[in-house]
Amino acid sequence: MNVRSNSVLPRSPTRPALVAIALLCAAGPAGATGNAARGQTLYKGCADCHSIDENGVGPMHKGVVGRKAGSVPGYDYSPDLKNSGIVWSEENLDKWLISPQAMVPETKMFFDVPDAQDRADIIAYLKEKAR
Ligand code: HEC
Repeated sequence: MNVRSNSVLPRSPTRPALVAIALLCAAGPAGATGNAARGQTLYKGCADCHSIDENGVGPMHKGVVGRKAGSVPGYDYSPDLKNSGIVWSEENLDKWLISPQAMVPETKMFFDVPDAQDRADIIAYLKEKAR
């Protein structure tokens, strides 16, 4: 029996590198330049739970860029997000979309966007269309 299975090893060195690249991108002003038109298409993935103007599974996104987290009236937030003190700057939205749980461990949003360009495009869309 071969217990020294190496099948997962070749992948592990690339992961930290990707994370490092993602973090480097996030360090600039919103990292990659966002394309709002492309973001609109990508937003369909968010639309299972969110819309711009109405609360659903998730809170409405009207005015989300620059808004205080957990502040939409009538939406039942997790206590952790509500009390997080986060303000949704572009940087924070980028961090959130990398992993909501990494930012707010008890949040009830389970969805992440691993690609930096995708995140930048979604944020550009929110900035333009969800004002
Ligand atoms: C599977 C459902 C689901 C999907 C898909 C989803 N979200 Fe969410 N989202 C939620 C829930 C639920 C919350 C509330 C989290 C809480 O209260 O902890 C939330 C909260 C948020 C918040 C915080 C808003 C506020 O008012 O503080 C932002 C920003 C957000 N989502 C953005 C997005 C974006 C952008 C996408 C698409 C890339 C997305 N979400 C996809 C369910 C989802």
